[in-house]
Amino acid sequence: MINFKDLAKEYKTPLYVYDLDYMSSQYSELKEAFKGRKSLLAYAVKANSNLSIVKHFADLGSGADCVSIGEVRRAFLAGVPHYKIIFSGVGKSDDEIREAIESDILYINVESEAELGRVELIAKELNRVCRISIRVNPNIDPKTHPYISTGLHDNKFGVDINSAKRMYIFANNSAHLDPVGIHFHIGSQLTELGPIRESAEIVADLVRSLSTIKIDLKFFDIGGGLGVQYKNEVTIKPYDYAQAILGTLNALDMTIVCEPGRFLTANAGYFLTKVLYEKHNGQKRFVVVDGAMNDLIRPSLYNAYHKIEAITESKEVETLADVVGPVCESGDFLAKNYSLPKLEHNDLLVVHSAGAYGFGMGSNYNTRGRSAEIAIKGGVVKVIRKRESFEDLIALEREFLN
Ligand code: LLP
Repeated sequence: MINFKDLAKEYKTPLYVYDLDYMSSQYSELKEAFKGRKSLLAYAVKANSNLSIVKHFADLGSGADCVSIGEVRRAFLAGVPHYKIIFSGVGKSDDEIREAIESDILYINVESEAELGRVELIAKELNRVCRISIRVNPNIDPKTHPYISTGLHDNKFGVDINSAKRMYIFANNSAHLDPVGIHFHIGSQLTELGPIRESAEIVADLVRSLSTIKIDLKFFDIGGGLGVQYKNEVTIKPYDYAQAILGTLNALDMTIVCEPGRFLTANAGYFLTKVLYEKHNGQKRFVVVDGAMNDLIRPSLYNAYHKIEAITESKEVETLADVVGPVCESGDFLAKNYSLPKLEHNDLLVVHSAGAYGFGMGSNYNTRGRSAEIAIKGGVVKVIRKRESFEDLIALEREFLN
């Protein structure tokens, strides 16, 4: 049991707390599900990109799925070997492509015909051969929040099957491209297996059809997306997930690459915030806390639910309240109509499931320094990112001061 009260006292709030042991057990469960097959879990760095978290997964044997050269650099710094790093994303700059090729990573995930042309040109300039995979958009509805749905033709991600086929033929004929993988990722926080299985079938069919023209791919990259429980969602079991994917491959002997983010970190993370005061506007009750949308934007952006646990002496009956932060936006809330007891100044709220897309999506809006992050492993607590000071926030803004 984590003693949140002591942590808040020692490290102050707002504060992110991560349970690394929980992350390890999630990693092992997913890895185990693919037992008997060659597999690589490439942690989706965007979910929580703190170097210590990336290193934690690297130590467990994980690779890294990166969507910017910054994330690739993080992966290297954290000790992920180059042959386990994937670089994805719909808009890569020439500089990013160049650095990725020079770094000799596992492959670049290409998301358009135009991008494939740029990758070839840059590889040629560098006199290198670049390993690539192509992100296929299978046009399947993943049945998740529209902002995190990526596998429909309406979404900007990937290419349709026919374009993918053309691109593989082009890459196969190029002296500077080596097509080694195929990739799909239809969305995040997926709780239904059907759309995943259907997508895998479409992509596996393409692999088989490429094989008939002597283009044999090694990596079957199924993206990330496994959902977790925030409230009462029924989630997909890793074993069922793996079986569904493997069932579509039949005789294909490929390494499964999986890019989990949320599954590994979401429920390992807590966001701690303190009550500043309560207020009522007419009948409406607000609990004003010291954490805000700049710390955890998921409720504001997706109307996402995060369980909140109040640590208080209060015995008063619970009533509904909006939990709001100090930021000057009506959209600044951590919860709406949430049942909470009457709270006092300095009572602690523990916001659950905050380990994925929490700190990483934070900002300095309203000149608020970002929270500290601490991690717990085998009972040992470490600060893995210091709280940002005012000086940190203005450090890059000196140009016109004199
Ligand atoms: N691979 C690719 C290509 C992705 O685009 C993503 C996430 C992942 C892997 C990892 O997905 P995961 O296993 O975490 O579902 N900010 C949103 C989530 C955005 C996900 C973007 N892509 C949220 O807070 O719900």
